[in-house]
Amino acid sequence: MKHTVLVTGGAGYIGSHITYELIARGHDVIILDSLVYDQHNVVNNAPLIKGNCGDQQLLATIFSQHPITAVMHCAAFIEVGASTKQPLDFYDNNVSMTINLLASMRTHKITKLIFSSSCAVYGTPQFLPLTEMHPYGPISPYGATKMMVERILADADSAHGIKSVALRYFNAAGASPKLNLGERHTPETHIIPLLLRAATTQTPFTIFGTDYATPDGTCVRDYLHVRDIANAHAQALNYLDTEQLSTCLNLGTGQGVSVSQLIKMVEKITGMTIKKLHGTMRQGDPHTLVADPHRAHTMLNWLPQHSQLETIIKDAYEFYLNGCSSGHQPGILKQSNQRI
Ligand code: UFG
Repeated sequence: MKHTVLVTGGAGYIGSHITYELIARGHDVIILDSLVYDQHNVVNNAPLIKGNCGDQQLLATIFSQHPITAVMHCAAFIEVGASTKQPLDFYDNNVSMTINLLASMRTHKITKLIFSSSCAVYGTPQFLPLTEMHPYGPISPYGATKMMVERILADADSAHGIKSVALRYFNAAGASPKLNLGERHTPETHIIPLLLRAATTQTPFTIFGTDYATPDGTCVRDYLHVRDIANAHAQALNYLDTEQLSTCLNLGTGQGVSVSQLIKMVEKITGMTIKKLHGTMRQGDPHTLVADPHRAHTMLNWLPQHSQLETIIKDAYEFYLNGCSSGHQPGILKQSNQRI
């Protein structure tokens, strides 16, 4: 079924890949993005409306003027550490504005939503790998915002028939250098761009914690290529077309990679040695987050295709080098509570 999809956050790292995938599959896309992180990834000239989901009037205009049949809601504040310092901004941006979006969808009778959730809803694992049955236990306001929205989505289905798939991303990684799409966070806090910067500029990289209860003492994560995430979104839309049942699904590979293993891979791909500093643990960091992704495999008919660690790092490195050579200057983070 062909859709016209509103992608909130569609100019961002993950949203732009989703936009590309949807257009490649024949859907039409409208992007709503506040550009708050000063990321503006352009995909096939998909129309971009600058604004956010807190703007009721803007949403009313968008839903009245475009034949939107589904929403992919990626717009959110994303940084776990920042959420502990600015929790109210995060609850406002990630929860209140989502309620606003859902209210507008109800008014305009749009009943399909794919939501960018996170493994941060689980907190510190009680068992591994994490299945969707693992209890909620977020340890950061960021994770709490994602948990709250999942709860709101369940109620929005019961009361208003809005069907949703909440995709709990593990660690989004990699890039699409040929499309000039990749991570351009400002400030950058994610490990792979930071490792590439450390390798190429020979500045030190700080490992957050080296005595965790993991095989080599460093944190273990499940890195999933952003193109695989985008693909899962398109599959989730197919799922809603056929099944019309709301659900929450893990998006990961099921493979754990430690910070030390990641450093070795970045050194191998770049041919450069990284200067390492042993730092303290970062607040809100569980020692291990690894998905059991089988439910998504079965329900979405989806398997990661690009998430070998080497592919992830090679793509991120090529994007990083292109960004440097084209003189890309990341912008400044605007006030996080800014409404445009
Ligand atoms: N790390 C370092 N040094 C750094 C940066 C990161 O050692 O300078 C480590 C972290 O401690 C962590 C791993 O690298 O173990 C990955 O950190 P990232 O910041 O790249 O990613 P996170 O795991 O913190 O965050 C990701 C997503 C969030 C999501 C979270 C769930 O970006 O949106 O996973 O925990 F909520």
